[in-house]
Amino acid sequence: MLQPTILRFDSIDSTNLEAIRQAKLGIPEGTCIVAREQTAGRGRLDRMWHSAKDAGLYFSIILRPQFAISDWPLLTLMAALAVSDAVWKACGVRVDIKWPNDVCASDRKLCGILAETVETSIGPAAIVGIGINLRKEAVREDLMPSATSIQELCEGALDDQRILNELVTALAERYELLQRDGGFEQTIREWCAHSSYAFDRRVRVSLNDEVFQGVTRGLDRDGALRVELLNGKIRIVRAGDVTAVRPASKEPQ
Ligand code: BTN
Repeated sequence: MLQPTILRFDSIDSTNLEAIRQAKLGIPEGTCIVAREQTAGRGRLDRMWHSAKDAGLYFSIILRPQFAISDWPLLTLMAALAVSDAVWKACGVRVDIKWPNDVCASDRKLCGILAETVETSIGPAAIVGIGINLRKEAVREDLMPSATSIQELCEGALDDQRILNELVTALAERYELLQRDGGFEQTIREWCAHSSYAFDRRVRVSLNDEVFQGVTRGLDRDGALRVELLNGKIRIVRAGDVTAVRPASKEPQ
């Protein structure tokens, strides 16, 4: 079982960047970086991640999985499940996972996950960065309509340390499960059970140079999203942004 140790920072550029630096120094897997604020928090697709002081959980873990790098995208699914476990245990809040890396509640984003790969002298490492909005100050003003925070969802006092503890425990359990025999299949099954995006969801997929619509038809073995096009063909989506499309409202009879 993973033995997590936590390195804490008051302020840092990005917990993912610090994890990359530590991984390059050969630090063992299970090392976690936590910061009260990030001055250059990183999001997917080169976006920045707003990281106001004490407003969010800014967390990264270093992993050195023993399975093929082509399967490392499963780490993002595993991390989303761990966030779901942790938020449920610490706050009693049920979340919805949106492919590939968002955790939402009430259709608004609560958490983002950024997994990166780095070469180190003792082999490649995966850095899994997790940002959870704890308080409303974690959310940039212009994103407020589409984002939420634990504070908004959860009655009672916020216990940041409890959320961190539950997250670390859940990551250790989910990572072990992923690496067991049948762990990939079980992780995908559980991901699908925790996501309203897995099946039969009409979505718009935005790639670098293309946008298309279709209906979700589950995940491939490596975590890629299967989207059925109008012509019945399945497209396998490995990158890009996926947003739900509401079906056009019916014309009045
Ligand atoms: C996204 O939704 O675009 C992913 C956001 C990931 C943000 C977290 S906060 C902790 C870790 N450090 C970073 O710089 N990014 C991730």
